[in-house]
Amino acid sequence: MSLLIALRRLAHVRLGELSRRTTAVTLSSGARLSGLRSFTVGTQALRSDKVTFHFINRDGEKITVKGSPGDTLLDIVINEDLDFDGFGACEGTLACSTCHLIFDEEVYKKLGRVTDEEMDMLDLAYGLTETSRLGCQICLTKSLEGMVARVPDSVTDIRQSKDESA
Ligand code: FES
Repeated sequence: MSLLIALRRLAHVRLGELSRRTTAVTLSSGARLSGLRSFTVGTQALRSDKVTFHFINRDGEKITVKGSPGDTLLDIVINEDLDFDGFGACEGTLACSTCHLIFDEEVYKKLGRVTDEEMDMLDLAYGLTETSRLGCQICLTKSLEGMVARVPDSVTDIRQSKDESA
């Protein structure tokens, strides 16, 4: 009889420990979840932190748009449904140079490093300047707030040149 009581007490204690562990796990998960919630709120705050900038279209029209940090200038042209004839023909795969944009020198210095692949494509761009870049390779940052990008008078789509010579 006393053995049975002892076993029950032991089982009760073990179940109690298990219950406490489960509670601890739940609390731990809850803490992680609340941490995730904070992170999500932080991400939403970043997303709402839009950057305003301007395109000068081929006809001289100034177009003001807003984009999210991390978006490329090609993303913005697509998202805002801007009508820059032939712009972004390769959809950002660095195969066309139709997303060629020209910047003021001050802005150009803030755009970051030009990769060799971008430089190769830029060499084929129509109306190349010292401050030319490919829009699909430039990501928005807060430091680019208010920048101006000029769309060149014409575009060269290297893919079409290759097609025509074939
Ligand atoms: S969209 Fe083709 S190189 Fe940028």
